[in-house]
Amino acid sequence: MSYYEPFSRKYRPKNFDEVIGQESVVRTLRNAIKLNRISNAYIFAGSRGLGKTTISRILTKCLNCEVGITDKPCGKCENCIEIDKGSFPDMYEIDAASNRGIDDIRNIKENVGYAPIKGRYKVYIIDEAHMLTREAFNALLKTLEEPPPHNIFILATTELHKIPDTIRSRCQTFIFKSPNKSEIVKYLKRICESERIEYEEKALEILAEASEGGMRDSASLLDQATVFGEGKITVKSVEEMLGFIPVSIIDKFFNYLKNKDIKNLITVINSVEKSGYDLNIFWKQIIEELHNILVDLTLGKDNKYFTTEDIKELIYIQTIFNKALIEAKNFPNPKHIYQLAVLKLKYLNNIVSIKELLEKGINITTKSKDKNLKEIELKEDNGKKSLDYILKEVKSKLGGVVYSILKSAKIEEREDSFIVFVNKSLVKTLDTRELSNIFGKAVKIEPLEEKVEKKEDKKDESVEKVLELFKGKIISYKKKNN
Ligand SMILES: Nc1ncnc2c1ncn2[C@@H]1O[C@H](COP(=O)(O)OP(=O)(O)OP(=O)(O)O)[C@@H](O)[C@H]1O
Ligand SMILES: [Mg+2]
Ligand SMILES: [Zn+2]
Repeated sequence: MSYYEPFSRKYRPKNFDEVIGQESVVRTLRNAIKLNRISNAYIFAGSRGLGKTTISRILTKCLNCEVGITDKPCGKCENCIEIDKGSFPDMYEIDAASNRGIDDIRNIKENVGYAPIKGRYKVYIIDEAHMLTREAFNALLKTLEEPPPHNIFILATTELHKIPDTIRSRCQTFIFKSPNKSEIVKYLKRICESERIEYEEKALEILAEASEGGMRDSASLLDQATVFGEGKITVKSVEEMLGFIPVSIIDKFFNYLKNKDIKNLITVINSVEKSGYDLNIFWKQIIEELHNILVDLTLGKDNKYFTTEDIKELIYIQTIFNKALIEAKNFPNPKHIYQLAVLKLKYLNNIVSIKELLEKGINITTKSKDKNLKEIELKEDNGKKSLDYILKEVKSKLGGVVYSILKSAKIEEREDSFIVFVNKSLVKTLDTRELSNIFGKAVKIEPLEEKVEKKEDKKDESVEKVLELFKGKIISYKKKNN
């Protein structure tokens, strides 16, 4: 039986040119090599499968290639080949997860005193360096402080914050970035092309997305997809492999969503689960589709389920659905969470924006308080505007908030001015210049007397309105601090 080498290992970049992404790491290391400014201690930080080990090995080759120190190692000399294989005697790959203790570091320290066996530099790649014990770090610190020449340390870690500051300050740190989708696709294409695997571009995109940012994971998925699709990578086979829910079901869901047909939405969820699909994957697809729809609508493109009118509501739905996904991950039965999310849509019609709320509040206030509020009636026959008329103008020019304040204020007309009495806290919110223009006379704002204010506080109109709209009740009072 022939030995099968997984893609992720087979296609490990062998030189800087083959590395995808990680530009700043690569550029800095290349320059350091060219300028002969190699640091003796590096930290390579970043999540799994982003190229920390890969770049450590490339750097080792750069320093030990028989051609000479170079940022383009030959890849053919004995040293290069041994480094690629992981058998080069001057490259030490130490797994700190299983060699955490001070003795392990002591071994390194002893070794550091000897000259390299074959190459120019000895390179110690300490993987999962954050796992070292405190004593081990302390022991390492001394070595990093007085480094014997021709020894280079690379501390690779997925958890940079666990590396003590004392160590960090003696190392040059590189943060490895997660590749974006197109970088992963580029990598997968490279593999497909060199393996002569037929592929659909979209299928590679789906794999890239499913690998959630890890290069190694994407290669493993490609491995799997090649076997699953019998040598061909198609959207259909990839989706099937990943347990994606057929488009027809997603389509059904969105049709019901459009009509807020809660009953049938729940039926879809139930049947997806019954068919043996992973509900979390289903929900992720729904969220992805919802996101695409929202982007389209925002760009002014209508779509087959919704129009731009629905944006506000869809954003709300998206919030509910996103929350459900997070909750479902920590919940034994995700179905219940998703059913609940759908049930919440029933109350969507009751969502009122703050603006609407204020306006609704105002209308009702107007009706109930209209008569007793009007302290003065302005005579129209004198060529003056009526107070009603003025207030309408206020509403259209200054908005509902100012209008509602004035509507419940006590207004007195004087010879050459209007005095508007409002709650003390509201005095500063009104712009007298704007009001004077609309009233046609100088407007002065005065605070209501303390006694009146307290009385008003108790029966706060707007609070009453909110209570009525939301069918709520007051559970506690807080003192206002002006
Ligand atoms: N930047 C990259 N460009 C191309 N391929 C990459 C890149 N990063 C990772 N890979 C691929 O992923 C595989 C794993 O990468 P590597 O072993 O370097 O990851 P790592 O960061 O050391 O991960 P871990 O934290 O798990 O040790 C490589 O063999 C290679 O195939
Ligand atoms: Mg590694
Ligand atoms: Zn070489």
